[in-house]
Amino acid sequence: MRLLFIGDVVGRAGRKAILERLPELRRRWALDFVVVNGENAAGGFGITEAICDEILAAGADCVTTGNHVFDQREALVFIERQPRLLRPVNYPPGTPGRGANLYSAENGRQVLVVNVQGRVFMDALDDPFAAIEREVGACPLGAACDALIVDIHAETSSEKMAMGHFVDGRASLVVGTHTHVPTADGQILPHGTAYMTDAGMTGDYDSVIGMEKEEPLRRFTRKTPGARFEPAQGEATLCGVAVELGADGLARCIAPVRVGGRLEQAGPRFWEREDEDRGQRLVEGIGAPRR
Ligand SMILES: [Fe+2]
Ligand SMILES: [Fe+2]
Repeated sequence: MRLLFIGDVVGRAGRKAILERLPELRRRWALDFVVVNGENAAGGFGITEAICDEILAAGADCVTTGNHVFDQREALVFIERQPRLLRPVNYPPGTPGRGANLYSAENGRQVLVVNVQGRVFMDALDDPFAAIEREVGACPLGAACDALIVDIHAETSSEKMAMGHFVDGRASLVVGTHTHVPTADGQILPHGTAYMTDAGMTGDYDSVIGMEKEEPLRRFTRKTPGARFEPAQGEATLCGVAVELGADGLARCIAPVRVGGRLEQAGPRFWEREDEDRGQRLVEGIGAPRR
């Protein structure tokens, strides 16, 4: 089974990358299930119903979020009627929407996705580890689902790494979001869970975590607020992680994905069907700017 997880889509540039590239990636890599973190898709802050629909239509099976989930207030309402949109599962009881859901993949397999938020240097939510224990216990991998994906939306690498080991052997993939920079530590943990500390953002990397540089620089250097943060508008790099699962729902291969934009290009060589040279050209071809 083939999974693709794509990190925080930032603003118009990030959405453009999803709409232009995801349908082709889905076809080329014969993906069974795709998750996209959409918490920054609407002008860098939150997600609207129209944008959520757009991301789903482009080839996502599930859209996860994080601390920005309700920045666009309409999300408080439409999340209730959109089972493919998740918010962190450890928000207080009574929060609109849901933090976990079971989906049917393209190949008919059942995929549980859980979105959870860390607490270190973030809002004081309920214990993310207890929340994950509950969700994984209620829908165990291999018994109640064929694949289990955890999006851990957190600030610190330590909290994310701890979450990876916490469910190692019980989840197919644990991947971090929120810090907007892809990490180079993609690996399969000792008991079979694919892990990467941060998927990276899908946004313009000539920026400060996706935003135009001027205002963040102003605030860092002068410690006074000025204009609003605006998403950077240059070509985005679509960033994420590709994972191949075995019949047991545990990981066999993992690779970083970086397509388009400024970052060095990367992709799952194990899914390129042609010979190695041709495969390399295909990856480069994906990364080439559209003319
Ligand atoms: Fe984000
Ligand atoms: Fe975030």
